[in-house]
Amino acid sequence: MNARVIEVGGAAPYRIQIGPGLLEDGTALASMLRGRHALIVSDDQVAPLYVQRVHQALANARPGARIATHVFPAGEASKTLENFSAVIEALAAHGATRDACVYALGGGVVGDLAGFAAACWMRGIDCVQLPTSLLAMVDSSVGGKTAVDIPQGKNLVGAFHPPRAVFADTTALRTLPPRELHAGFAEVIKYGAIVDAGFLDWLEANTDKLLANDDALLTDAIARSCAHKAAIVERDPFEHGERALLNFGHTFAHAIETEQAAFFGYGSGVNHGEAVAIGMVLAAKLSSALGMADVADGERLRSLLQAFGLPVEMPVGLDLLALLAHMRLDKKAQGSGLRFILWDRAGAARIVAGVDEAVVLATLQA
Ligand code: GLY
Repeated sequence: MNARVIEVGGAAPYRIQIGPGLLEDGTALASMLRGRHALIVSDDQVAPLYVQRVHQALANARPGARIATHVFPAGEASKTLENFSAVIEALAAHGATRDACVYALGGGVVGDLAGFAAACWMRGIDCVQLPTSLLAMVDSSVGGKTAVDIPQGKNLVGAFHPPRAVFADTTALRTLPPRELHAGFAEVIKYGAIVDAGFLDWLEANTDKLLANDDALLTDAIARSCAHKAAIVERDPFEHGERALLNFGHTFAHAIETEQAAFFGYGSGVNHGEAVAIGMVLAAKLSSALGMADVADGERLRSLLQAFGLPVEMPVGLDLLALLAHMRLDKKAQGSGLRFILWDRAGAARIVAGVDEAVVLATLQA
C-alpha cells in the first residue's frame, strides 16, 4: 500500500506520510538528512522494537552518515528539563552540526522532548518525527509544538519548532498496548468534536473495526485527523487564534494531569488521552451549563468515548479547587479570566473567554 500524504503549508512546509513500513524506508528517512549527523531519540519501550531498524535503514541509504542513538526511560515522568539536558548533551557528544537531524522515534513524550532539544540545539536543527503511537500520529507529531513539563504544569517550557517531516508507520500500531490505542482515539474523536460532525458519525459506525486494528480504516482515521490538524496549524501556526480549538478538553485534562502529578508524579493515574476524554466530557457539560450546547450532544460524545474504551468520569479524590488553580496557569488562560474551548454543537467548537469560575466549579462537582 502506498503511503498517504498530507502537506502542511506555511513558512516551513513539510509532508506527513502515513502507511505501513515507513520506518524501514531508508531512502525516505535519509532524504531528510541535510548533513552527516543523525541522532535517533527514543524511549526504552520503543527502542528495542524499532531503533535497530531505523538505524540500519538510515545507514544503508546513507553510508557516510554518523548515526547515534539516545534512549531514555518511557513515560510522561521523563518529560523533564533533566532529560532535555541529556538529549542536548548527546547532541554535543555526537558533534552534531547545524545541518544535523534528530529523529524522534516514539510516542508523544519522545516527540515533545526530542523536538524541544532540536529546537534549542544551535538555535534549531531539523527534527523528523517518527510517531509510533496513535496519539502521536494524529496530534503531537504534527504542528511543531515541543515542550517539557515542570511541577507547576504540563508543557510550560517549550518552543514551536515544526518538524522537517513526519513518517507515521501504521504497522507500529500493531504492537501498541490497547490502552495506548484507546488514548489515541481521544484525540481522533476530538477532531470530530471541534470541526467535523460527520467524522463522529463515521467513528460511531466503525468503532469495532477500528478497535480491531483494521489497517485501512486506521489509516483513514489518521489521515482525516492529520488533514484537520494540518489545515488548522497552517493557518495559525503559533496559536494566536483557531489553533486553540485543538485544545478542546485540554484545559480540564492538563489540570487533572498536573494535580495527579503533584501527588504521584507525572505519568501516574490517567494518561494524557484519557485525561482529554474526561476533559472533553467536562467541556461539553460546561458548554451546556453556559447555555451554548444541547445536553444530548454531550451525551453522544460521552458514549462514543466510552465505546473506544476511554474513561469519562473525573478520577476520584482530586481537589477541585486545586484543579481550578491549575487552570488559571493554563496557557489558554489570559488576564481576563479562564478561557475554554467549548462547543455550540458537535463539530462546532469556539474559544470562550472570561468563563465564570463558579460555573466551572459547579461543572467539576456535578
Ligand atoms: N495539541 C494541540 C496543538 O498541537 O495545538
